Amino acid sequence: MSEALRIGVAGLGTVGSSVLRILHDKADMLTRQCGKEIKVTAVSARSRSRDRGVDLSGLKWFDDPVELAASDEIDVFVELIGGDEGAAKVAVETALQAGHHVVTANKALLAKHGVALAEIAESKGVLLNFEAAVAGGIPVIKAMRESLTGNSVSRVYGIMNGTCNYILTRMGEEGISFEDCLKDAQRLGYAEADPTFDVEGNDTAHKLSLLTSLAFGTQIAADDIDIEGISNISLADIRAADDLGYRIKLLGVALKTETGIEQRVHPTMVPTSSVIAQVHGVTNAVAIETDLLGELLLSGPGAGGDATASAVLGDLADIAKSRPGFQHGPVFGSPAKTLETYKRADIREHDGGFFIRLTVHDRTGAFAAIASRMAENGISLESIVQRNRDASEEKGVKTVILVTHATTETAVQKALEAILNDDHLVDKPQMIRIERGTGA
Ligand code: HSE
Repeated sequence: MSEALRIGVAGLGTVGSSVLRILHDKADMLTRQCGKEIKVTAVSARSRSRDRGVDLSGLKWFDDPVELAASDEIDVFVELIGGDEGAAKVAVETALQAGHHVVTANKALLAKHGVALAEIAESKGVLLNFEAAVAGGIPVIKAMRESLTGNSVSRVYGIMNGTCNYILTRMGEEGISFEDCLKDAQRLGYAEADPTFDVEGNDTAHKLSLLTSLAFGTQIAADDIDIEGISNISLADIRAADDLGYRIKLLGVALKTETGIEQRVHPTMVPTSSVIAQVHGVTNAVAIETDLLGELLLSGPGAGGDATASAVLGDLADIAKSRPGFQHGPVFGSPAKTLETYKRADIREHDGGFFIRLTVHDRTGAFAAIASRMAENGISLESIVQRNRDASEEKGVKTVILVTHATTETAVQKALEAILNDDHLVDKPQMIRIERGTGA
């Protein structure tokens, strides 16, 4: 049996504690599968005394994760601290410079510094594995980096935030308020330390930026993502979507167009008949469209301690099984120095359908005027309905829902401006993009 692979774990929150517990409970199985023991030798976290339900006795404790990262008592540094700067960044750089492999779940760090960190890892001949950073337990990074080699990707999209999908699902199925759903997601350990990162779409954007780089061989461009979260989605939107045969999901979408790459994160209407519409709760799903495969859909638990720890274990196993002196594959599928410059496509020119919910004064001509403004801007309507169901509607106020055929956001915005100027609206219009894919 080879010598044990020595692990240092920094960050003992939900995921870190799960990693430690599973490495302990499944030690024999992992040793058998990897051909060597995976042995945690040292840890670092903010509080030494907190009860995490795992036994830390016998492990060397470091108050400073950077010291742990530099320690010669580890072969692999597992970074589960989080954050795109500060201790996490310095510790990962330190570990790579020291010639240690790194396993991280830190999408924010990689979205910002991934290419620079990959360059260090590649120059040092070590692995920088980050399966746990995207879509929790789903092995999407390995699939894109390794299994899809030779495929030309045209689009990658999906549900990549468990917290948002959990909230939208429970709002839709149980009519529970956004705030209450979010509290439950936090209690269950799905949400980020700052849950605005989840609900405002930043977490999805970080993950999407990594998949975009893997999909198109480009530099990571998280700042070039158009982001809109779900805090603006009401029960009225969810009910209206349902009536028209759609569900609302927070999607991250990266698409190759003739003018560049479109990256966007926004609440999206997906046809109820589509596969992605059946993805409920904390489950994530990533669809990858390629020339050779058509569409591949990977789905599974997107957040939570054990699911995310599963991805960390897979990354550790890769390292444990790698042969000493063997040249490791590049971090983002192609060597970091060869990643192409990212060219952003303007999403206002994105051609797609839109769902529009308008709250209007109930007076003669309003309905007709709305339809004309759409026509004037070349927008063809798939449906236009007036709803009377909302108990919350005041007297003299009606809800009008439109679903457009493919058009551009520029055209929709122009039509909405004209409708606003006509003074028919009681409230700000709600506009949600429609995305078609698997099964629809
Ligand atoms: N907060 C994230 C989510 C955790 O809800 O999906 C996994 O990255």
